[in-house]
Amino acid sequence: MSAEILIPSILKIGGGSFEEVPELLLRLKCKRPLIVTDPFLMRGQLPGALQRAIKDAGIACAIFSETVADPTSAIVDAGVRVFVGNDHDSLVSLGGGSPIDTAKAVGMLAKNGGQARDYRVPKVIPMAGPPHVAIPTTAGTGSEVTRFTVITDSETGEKMLIAGSALMPTAAVVDYELTLTMPARLAADTGTDSLTHAVEAYVSRKANTFTDTLALAAMKTIWRELPASVSDPGNLPAREAMMLAATQAGMAFSNASVALVHGMSRPLGAHFHIAHGLSNAMLLPAVTAFSVEAAMGRYAKCARTMGIAERGDPDERAVNGLIEALYQRNAELKVPSPKDFGVDEAQYFEMIPVMAKQALASGSPQNNPRVPTAEEVESIYRQCWEGK
Ligand SMILES: [Fe+2]
Repeated sequence: MSAEILIPSILKIGGGSFEEVPELLLRLKCKRPLIVTDPFLMRGQLPGALQRAIKDAGIACAIFSETVADPTSAIVDAGVRVFVGNDHDSLVSLGGGSPIDTAKAVGMLAKNGGQARDYRVPKVIPMAGPPHVAIPTTAGTGSEVTRFTVITDSETGEKMLIAGSALMPTAAVVDYELTLTMPARLAADTGTDSLTHAVEAYVSRKANTFTDTLALAAMKTIWRELPASVSDPGNLPAREAMMLAATQAGMAFSNASVALVHGMSRPLGAHFHIAHGLSNAMLLPAVTAFSVEAAMGRYAKCARTMGIAERGDPDERAVNGLIEALYQRNAELKVPSPKDFGVDEAQYFEMIPVMAKQALASGSPQNNPRVPTAEEVESIYRQCWEGK
């Protein structure tokens, strides 16, 4: 069976590649790019430095810095008004997944019109947006190399998955030096998101040999380097390895899809304002325990690749070790349960049927090796309430 692989046309990878953005924009014939970033980054030097460098190359350029964590349709609409109103012809997103996802949706609506909710899966986006250069500052969501964006509907609060080749950035600039100021919690959460991408891409029903290679390389690196990357921000080799692995994991899941963890994570994040990587981490061990029986060989390979199991260990021992190690890693990274996070207990249990319905509607759980029923999704949510 053939696999269709989509990645950005241009990938710039390595320390210092950030400085090549103006030249990249010239090559792409961008005349009026709009930089999309967030208020947190605006307090630092980066967006201003980028704007100056672009202007110095003779390109007119403005900044839209109103993006929010868990980007909303209202902010996307505001971005579209700026983009269209000021006659911009291209996008440069700078930040974590939120600015990059926002820029993708802005480009989509600027080109196709309508509202974000008109394009949620399984809708097909008719036309690709304007050129988009994505510059991640976390390692990471992988959004710089994916054909997905997740936008929260400002009216209903639902986290909507939007997918299609039209969303793929034209270029990704992956410079680990931009991650050096990332706080420990952010490094832990975005790193766990990357690990989840790698594992889910590898066990996905849509996995293929191309994505397998990327997923295995990414999970090996992330499992080894994440603790040092979190506890020792000055550890440059760890941060560099994490940055590359996060992008590899992004390419893997963009072409193989994510599965049940992401399906369940979006509603959890949307209703209780839990950061995406953190809600993934809360779910990953329990979802893995639920899923292993349907793909023992694949999960065992993950365990061996991550150095959790020996080459000669039987599959069952390897997957049990994997589940145990995922719980252990959560404890080391101080991942709270929803209860410890401060979620209201009555509200959590009341929302479980709604969250299960939304998780299944996103389509991601259908890529899981073990496809759950609504009752099984509800049961996993109940199980995760207190963690382990
Ligand atoms: Fe993710």
